[in-house]
Amino acid sequence: MQQNEGGQREYFNTRIGFILAAVGSAVGLGNMWRFPYVAAEGGGAAFVFLYIVLTLAVGIPLMLSEFSVGRGSRLAPIGALRKLGGGSWSLLGWMYVFTGFLILAYYSVIAGWVVRYAVDGIISGFAAEPATHFGEVTSGIGPVYFHLGVMAATVFIVSMGVQKGIERAALVLMPTLFAILIFLAIWAFTLDGAVEGYAFYLRPSLSELMDPYILAQAAGQAFYSLSLGMGCMLTFSSYLSSEENLNKEATIIAFSDFGVAFVAGLVVFPVIFALGMQGDVSESTVGALFIALPGAFVEMGAMGRVIGILFFIALIVGALTSAVSLLEVVTASVIDETKIHRRTASIVGGILIALLGLLPALSLDFLGVMDRLAEALLALGAFFMAVFVGWVAVGASEELKKGASERFDRLVPSLMATIRWVLPPVILFAAVYAFIAVWREYMQAYGG
Ligand code: PHE
Repeated sequence: MQQNEGGQREYFNTRIGFILAAVGSAVGLGNMWRFPYVAAEGGGAAFVFLYIVLTLAVGIPLMLSEFSVGRGSRLAPIGALRKLGGGSWSLLGWMYVFTGFLILAYYSVIAGWVVRYAVDGIISGFAAEPATHFGEVTSGIGPVYFHLGVMAATVFIVSMGVQKGIERAALVLMPTLFAILIFLAIWAFTLDGAVEGYAFYLRPSLSELMDPYILAQAAGQAFYSLSLGMGCMLTFSSYLSSEENLNKEATIIAFSDFGVAFVAGLVVFPVIFALGMQGDVSESTVGALFIALPGAFVEMGAMGRVIGILFFIALIVGALTSAVSLLEVVTASVIDETKIHRRTASIVGGILIALLGLLPALSLDFLGVMDRLAEALLALGAFFMAVFVGWVAVGASEELKKGASERFDRLVPSLMATIRWVLPPVILFAAVYAFIAVWREYMQAYGG
C-alpha cells in the first residue's frame, strides 16, 4: 500500500491492518454485551436469522456507502460530505462528530466498569454478592477514575496515528480477542447447562418477529454493532488506497462482527444456565452481563475466576478498539478542518469527551438515556448517509467499482438501487422507533 502521496494524509499500512481496525471498531460491547440478550428476547433463532438478513440487505450496503464517501474524498466526515455534496451536507458531518462525542462519553464509562471487574477478578476474585458489587462498581467516584483511565488509553492510541497507533493496536488486540472468545465457547460447550442455554438462546420463536418493534430493534442493533451511521467506517476508509476491494472488505467486516456476536451468545447462555441464573437475565441487559455472569463465575470456583478474567479482558479489548474508532472520527475531523497536529487534536477531543462522560459516570439513569439517544442518532445518521449516497453524491458507483472484480461491477447497479429505494424507508422506520425508545427511557428515568 502506498505512503502519503505528497499531502500529509495517513494511510493504513496493510490490508489486514485496515480490516482488523474496522472489525475492532465494530466488535465491542455491542456484540458481547448487548447482542446475546437482544437476540434471546427478540425471538432467538428467528431473531438471529432476521439479523443476518438485515446485515446483508442493509448493513453491507450502508457500509459500502460510507466507504465510497470516505475513500472517494479521502477526508473525515465533515470535509468529505462538504466535498461531495456541498456546504449544507457538512452539517451531517457535524452531527456525526457530535454522535461520536456522545457515544464515547458513556461507552468509556461502561468500559471502565469492565476494567474494574477484570481488576477485581484478578486481585480478589469475583464478589459473592454480584448485585451489590455491581452497585459499588457503578456508584460513587470510582467509575469516574476508571472512565478517565479508559479515555487516557484511547487518547494514547489515537495520538500515535493511523499506522503506529490504530493499526498496530488492532493487529495485536483483535487476534487476542478472537482467541479468548473461541476458547471460552469451547469451554462453555462442556458445561452441564450448555444444551438448555443454547435452547433458550436459539429457540426458533416466530411470534416475536411479527412485532414491528423487534424489527426496528434488530436494525438499530445492526447499525450500532457495525459502527454505522456516524462516520466511523467513512473515516477509516479515507485512509485506503483505490486498489482496495471495498465490497470484499465490507463482507469480511460484517461477517466477523456477526460471528463475534453470535459466539458471545454461545458463551453467555450456557454459563448462565449451568448455574440456573436465568432469572437474573430477564431484568435488564446491564444486569445480565454485570450481575448474572460474575455470579456464575463465583459459583464455578477457581476455574470460574480464570474464565471470568479472560471474559472481561476480551470485553476490554473489544471496547478499547471501538473507543479508538470513535475518537478517531472526532480527531480526524478536527485535523481536516483546522490542520492542527494529531496529538493536540486527540488530546483536546479526548479531554472534552472525558468531561462529558462525568455525567453518565455519576448517573446510571443518564447513561441509559444516552445509550438510547446514541442508537437513535445512529439510525438518523444512517438514513441521511443512504439518501446522500443514493441521491446526492456523484460518482459513488464509480468509486465502488475501483479495486473490485468484474463480477462485482455487474452488481453495482442493483446495489445502488438498494441504497436508493430500500435503505431510506427501512432505516427511517428504525429511526422513528429509536426516538420513541429515547422518549420512553427518558420518562422512565426522569418523568415522575
Ligand atoms: N460497534 C461498537 C460496538 O458494537 C460500538 C460503536 C458504535 C463503535 C458506533 C463506533 C461507532 O460495541
